[in-house]
Amino acid sequence: MALAPTVKLNDGNQLPQIGLGTWPMQDAQVAEVVPQAVAAGYRLIDTALNYGNETGVGEGVRRSGVDREELFVTTKVPGRHHGYDETRRSLDESLARLQLDYIDLYLIHWPNPSVGKYIDTWRAFIDLQKEGKVRSIGVSNFKPAHLDRLLEETGVLPAVNQIQLYPAVTRVDERAYNEQLGIAVESWSPLGLGANAKYYGGNTSFLDIPVLRQIAQKHGKTTAQVILRWHVQQGLVPLPKSANSERLAQNIDVFSFQLDEDDMRQVSALDDGSADVADSDTHEEQ
Ligand code: A2P
Repeated sequence: MALAPTVKLNDGNQLPQIGLGTWPMQDAQVAEVVPQAVAAGYRLIDTALNYGNETGVGEGVRRSGVDREELFVTTKVPGRHHGYDETRRSLDESLARLQLDYIDLYLIHWPNPSVGKYIDTWRAFIDLQKEGKVRSIGVSNFKPAHLDRLLEETGVLPAVNQIQLYPAVTRVDERAYNEQLGIAVESWSPLGLGANAKYYGGNTSFLDIPVLRQIAQKHGKTTAQVILRWHVQQGLVPLPKSANSERLAQNIDVFSFQLDEDDMRQVSALDDGSADVADSDTHEEQ
């Protein structure tokens, strides 16, 4: 079993280049899936307080039998816990549910700009990292202006920004901005399923798009593998969710083939601007 390569973060830590997404798995299921994923080579596990499955993720981590320091566990502070003291309390609650001593990567789940407290939350993150309760700190769903504010007000940039990203939502400009600032980009919903069910008419699955099928056939891979390869080949860190052991194995097996320039261009061309993307200036989650 080969492990995924890692991406070096701006704080010196190493982030595995593919991870297990855990939404919407519930405790009992995720406690079984995490050990399967670890056995298949996953080392990065992504959860959030708002997924309601931190207890199961922690259970899965213990059942996996792999040393804690080999795993990279991410969780996220929800909107209703923004604020300095609230964030510190929230982290303690997450650690208690996960039954862990520290989190590898702690993210602000959504900026919720109308609430106006993500800077206070970020100040708590900076202190939590200094105290060793959190190894790396980052954000999710942050637009360039939100990143600018973090830098202006605290002088500290996130190590990671986790955003919705897949071939119909390529976010080229935002990615370039993150790259320029030295922030690694993680892709949530990297296969474009669920959130994107309406794309390409009706309920057609994104995985059935003919051009993806053609490229997959050319490389002897599945369309899901083509999409995940498209992410990693651009230095992105996709977080595909699967509760199925075959698909878990398939999704991490994307480091031994290469898409050519034409393939990459054709996959990126699936972004015609029509897909629905949450705008985090207005879309807020509690
Ligand atoms: P399942 O858990 O049954 O495998 P995303 O992470 O982009 O939101 O996609 C998650 C969805 O895609 C889940 O419904 C998951 O279902 C499905 N999925 C994950 N991997 C694959 C794959 N390799 N092929 C087809 N469907 C997949």
